[in-house]
Amino acid sequence: MTPSYPVSRPRRLRRTPPMRRLVAPVSVRPAGLVQPLFVKEGIGEPQPVASMPGVVQHTRDSLRKAAAEAVTAGVGGLILFGIPAVKDGRGSAADDPDGIVQVALRDLAADLGGETVLMADLCLDEYTDHGHCGLLTSGGEVDNDATLDRYAAIALAQAEAGAQVVAPSGMMDGQVAAIRTALDSAGHADVAICAYSAKYASAFYGPFRDAAECAPQFGDRAAYQQDPAARDALREVLLDVEEGADIVMVKPALAYLDVISQIAARVRLPVAAFQVSGEYAMVEAAAANGWLDRDRTILETLTAISRAGADIILSYWAAEVAQRLT
Ligand code: PBG
Repeated sequence: MTPSYPVSRPRRLRRTPPMRRLVAPVSVRPAGLVQPLFVKEGIGEPQPVASMPGVVQHTRDSLRKAAAEAVTAGVGGLILFGIPAVKDGRGSAADDPDGIVQVALRDLAADLGGETVLMADLCLDEYTDHGHCGLLTSGGEVDNDATLDRYAAIALAQAEAGAQVVAPSGMMDGQVAAIRTALDSAGHADVAICAYSAKYASAFYGPFRDAAECAPQFGDRAAYQQDPAARDALREVLLDVEEGADIVMVKPALAYLDVISQIAARVRLPVAAFQVSGEYAMVEAAAANGWLDRDRTILETLTAISRAGADIILSYWAAEVAQRLT
């Protein structure tokens, strides 16, 4: 039945693909995508990560190749995670100039330093034998202030190896200030800090802990990462801004779109979001079962994260999507 009065017709702007394209304010920007990459010390061949089909732990050589391919595909940056051959209580390999991430950063800086943005995850959990993100007290708690000195040392090692951005992900109070001070006093004022500011104690990191071999050996990270039910994201972000963060990040992404949009509305710095391992794994698993259209689902999640207000998205699909969009 034709309405007898002029009705509003939103469908007019949805009729054709060119019309929809014309009026869509949100798009996923390939140059805003960052590819996470894992590099493991002492392996001869890339090792598949069972819970992340399509993702591998790289050798030094396979990392160089994957990094070059991601850059050619059009991603805006790379973020490196290292898995050392030997772990200990203080995560000594994390700031060893010959540690796996430093060696890999030097490789990538030589290959691609002028063409992309090289980022390094800055944390201790991949390097400690107990799997926690900081040093432990004798009572088994994570010691905030003692950990800050370790983070400062790691920042210097990564900067010296060629990281252009360091990304502290351990959620220690004061970590951004400690790292900024250390970088500035060692002549690395140009190295930027992408702070994992609003990082939740999330079940979505499960597959990453396989990929980076960093599951906590006792307890969990709830005493330092944020509680999914709390309202402390803005407070954490504003502290990091005050301490000198250049980019602030929300993590995970899809379950925290409200947090991304709240931060984007309040903060004038670039906002990043990390589409984490569990977000990747659940789409890949459903797609492998034929339950979801993989490519459409991936693009829809990235569009949603962009629409919420993320300028930068870290995603295991970054290179694939950049390739698809350019
Ligand atoms: C800690 C770190 C984690 C991730 C990035 N940095 C794991 C954790 O906090 O347990 C998770 C990334 C992902 O799940 O994709 N170094």
